[in-house]
Amino acid sequence: MADLNVDLCGLALRNPVLPAAGPPGRDGKALLACAAGGAGALVAKTISVRAADVPTPSMAEIPHGLLNCELWSELPPEQWLEREYALAKSAGLPLIVSLGYSAADIAALAPRVRPFADALELSTHYIGENPQPMMDAIRAAKDAVAVPVFVKLSPLGREISRAAELAAKAGANGIAAINSFGPCLGIDVETGQPLLGSADGHGWLSGPALKPLALRCVLDVSRAVGLPVLGVGGISRGSDAIAMFMAGATAVQVCTAAILRGPTVFGKIATEIGAWLDAHGYQSVADIRGLTLRCLRERPAHRVAVPPVVEEAACTACGLCELSCPYDAIHVQGGIARVDMFRCAGCGLCVTRCRPGALRWL
Ligand SMILES: Cc1cc2nc3c(=O)[nH]c(=O)nc-3n(C[C@H](O)[C@H](O)[C@H](O)COP(=O)(O)O)c2cc1C
Repeated sequence: MADLNVDLCGLALRNPVLPAAGPPGRDGKALLACAAGGAGALVAKTISVRAADVPTPSMAEIPHGLLNCELWSELPPEQWLEREYALAKSAGLPLIVSLGYSAADIAALAPRVRPFADALELSTHYIGENPQPMMDAIRAAKDAVAVPVFVKLSPLGREISRAAELAAKAGANGIAAINSFGPCLGIDVETGQPLLGSADGHGWLSGPALKPLALRCVLDVSRAVGLPVLGVGGISRGSDAIAMFMAGATAVQVCTAAILRGPTVFGKIATEIGAWLDAHGYQSVADIRGLTLRCLRERPAHRVAVPPVVEEAACTACGLCELSCPYDAIHVQGGIARVDMFRCAGCGLCVTRCRPGALRWL
């Protein structure tokens, strides 16, 4: 069985699947449920110097994701300090305490959470695109605590690698990427009302729809800085986490899947990671970390368009490839999909749509 233990800046994780800051870690009791559900370590909901006043409704499931207009914890920091962190610590797992937002906020909070925090995670969600407040917040955290300080980046622009470089320069020990994306809007077409209760109806997108953006960000950050990266965004199963490790992540965080499927999702994803590693002959997560970065380095600048090949034994003649080929280059004939080499542009759509996996690249 593959070894799922991971070292994250000196934190010993029993597996690399953590809750992401949010409802899964909304209080001490919920964090204990994450631990019982198999999480490798715990991440508490972001707190700030005052309790958040969250508009309702604050969450809506949409196809392939979730919209939310939550802010940070609705519990006052005093309650976390008096009760919730200690309860979470009783699980015996490393506890990452999430704090927001300004340097002044962090300077006020970090010394107070020090007795409970095995690491800090700083949210940059509400401090805009100017990197200076982020750097000031990191320095304030580093001045206050000796534990690792992770910075969680939001996918606001294309320059996430630059933000990661500046976070590293300010002393961050790791990067969590990414927070939810937006602002977005959902509408109930029966009433015309926005799905969420924020003043403008705006909310933030998370869940499977976010995964390609999160993967790109994790890869860019991993390429830009030599710090451990916590991959977050759209992870619901082991193969999603595997992709994050290949993009360079050391561990992953899960929020939406835990909201929708409950806290046992952490253990399930960890088990799926182990099974995948075993089935592919790897000993540990470290064996696949950064694999995609290496593939990209070795990739020729121009790839020649080649048609895919059909595994005749696997083809079920379902016709999905024929239906969606933009080049009219694939047809089911005599119970088998056949590719017209002269028409095929090598776009690859059919390879990704073929459910039985009968179409593949040579
Ligand atoms: C309802 C909700 C509340 C969240 N609250 C926080 C938070 O307090 N702090 C934070 O850093 N991220 C917060 N997030 C963002 C998540 O931690 C995570 O970055 C994002 O949802 C992407 O991961 P996912 O696709 O697994 O949900 C929240 C997300 C959701 C859906």
